[in-house]
Amino acid sequence: MGNILVLYQSNTGNTAQMAALISEGAQRVDGIEVRSLSIEEATVEDLKWCHGIALGAPTNFGTVPWKMKKWWDDLIEHDVWPHLDGKFGCSFSSAGSVGGGQELNCMTLNTILMNFGFLVFGLTDYTGPAQSAHYGAVQHGEPRKDGEKEACARLGQRLAEWVATYVDQRPEAHPLQQSYPRLPDDYS
Ligand SMILES: Cc1cc2nc3c(=O)[nH]c(=O)nc-3n(C[C@H](O)[C@H](O)[C@H](O)COP(=O)(O)O)c2cc1C
Repeated sequence: MGNILVLYQSNTGNTAQMAALISEGAQRVDGIEVRSLSIEEATVEDLKWCHGIALGAPTNFGTVPWKMKKWWDDLIEHDVWPHLDGKFGCSFSSAGSVGGGQELNCMTLNTILMNFGFLVFGLTDYTGPAQSAHYGAVQHGEPRKDGEKEACARLGQRLAEWVATYVDQRPEAHPLQQSYPRLPDDYS
């Protein structure tokens, strides 16, 4: 059975709402177990347990907030680096505004994951008009529109599909084998 950790920081609840949607998306794939935990709740054991992680934080000054950075900095004490290689990873972020630096934050979260050996991926999917999660799921404020919510869910679903395909050895779980629309009629 593939294990997925949705690990997040959220100060005012927006990134937490994204995390909940990502968890729901991951649970669309049969045989996947999901833990959704804040950085106040998660331990190094959760990190070791997972085969895939969705890592999320609000955007602060265009980058990762210090509490999330500290969570990873403190891992050094636990001697897990470099024993996490080969797990799948992706990221998500809420900022206050469109163009507020969400993707910069996602790329920095991705960089942290890469440093620990995670295999980081993005989505080619569109989940509504002008709505993608190419570099991670991004949001201004909380997810409101259907396409915004689906972008979060699709990220979790894709993470679960990669884990099912390559960890659980289930080739039928590969996204190219699925029938859901990855490009809706109107995605411009
Ligand atoms: C210290 C701080 C820095 C912030 N920096 C940015 C920023 O660079 N760009 C932006 O659009 N919003 C910025 N914001 C707003 C938050 O990213 C935004 O409110 C986000 O939705 C909060 O997510 P949360 O509810 O999960 O904590 C900042 C907020 C704080 C407290």
